[in-house]
Amino acid sequence: MKKYIRLLIIPAALWTLGMGLVFLGGGCKGSGPDAEPSVAPISEQADTDAVATTAPLSTVPPNRTATPEPTEAPTPTPIAVNTDTSTVTYLVNREYPLPENFVPEGLTTPDVLFPFSDTTIDKAKMTPDAGAALALLFDAAYDEAGLTLYGVSAYRSYARQYTIYATNLATRGVAHTNRYSAAPGRSEHQTGLAIDISCASEGFGLETTFADTPEGIWVAKNAHRFGFILRYPKDKEHITGYNYEPWHIRYVGTELAGYLYETGLTLDEYYGVPSTLSAEYLETTPLIDTTAESYLSIYRQYH
Ligand code: DAL
Ligand code: ZN
Repeated sequence: MKKYIRLLIIPAALWTLGMGLVFLGGGCKGSGPDAEPSVAPISEQADTDAVATTAPLSTVPPNRTATPEPTEAPTPTPIAVNTDTSTVTYLVNREYPLPENFVPEGLTTPDVLFPFSDTTIDKAKMTPDAGAALALLFDAAYDEAGLTLYGVSAYRSYARQYTIYATNLATRGVAHTNRYSAAPGRSEHQTGLAIDISCASEGFGLETTFADTPEGIWVAKNAHRFGFILRYPKDKEHITGYNYEPWHIRYVGTELAGYLYETGLTLDEYYGVPSTLSAEYLETTPLIDTTAESYLSIYRQYH
């Protein structure tokens, strides 16, 4: 620094100007680490350029341009939770529910096989994009591996999910229900982007044994190519808040599905919001009002 102060008082104006330009150029180049450190190539990712600072020019030696001082790795800014239902990457879980009146636009029956004949019913429907991707996934399973997949249960309204959750509660108890069944508004099935799938050797049932079938193995390895994720993976129960469900796939688009497949992250982890409800809470606490007449009328059907 002293060297440059001395240089400033030398009366050779041109020389001083030249040196000044060199100094300024070096100072600017060495003023901070590269911008845009990134952990994910996803458009929802927040700008992580929080550590690009401008050091005072007087503290930066000119030779810093080539060898910047090592700095700590920047902490990635968490990705803001996406709740925009006009996208395909939005999060639905217990902490991020859908409104009761939410119905996805354009629900339609995908061109795939179902183990039931009336394919005009709600559970055969998905959003157009998710349904088209499902058809590509099922076609590829057949074309590439000779495997036949079936759609078992896709879209469910809030009211239908209420009935399923309440019936489970009345017949199976709270611990089992909260392990496998989402409370109304908390189910991805209400998005029209999720579907439970199975195969003939499983009797079209939804059991963890699906994971060991050729169909289940193929889906686990290939669903991401068509934009689907296995939403409730094994060993992530404490993060998703649900038991392993190898049959439940969720459309998020190929970019995010590929990223989650490569990283092994769940959608909750990607958004930095793992389930906050303790296992003990989920084992003991119904997530609907069990004194409401709507619940009691279902309860009485079984007791
Ligand atoms: N089985 C999943 C968690 C649901 O009910 O949406
Ligand atoms: Zn499901």
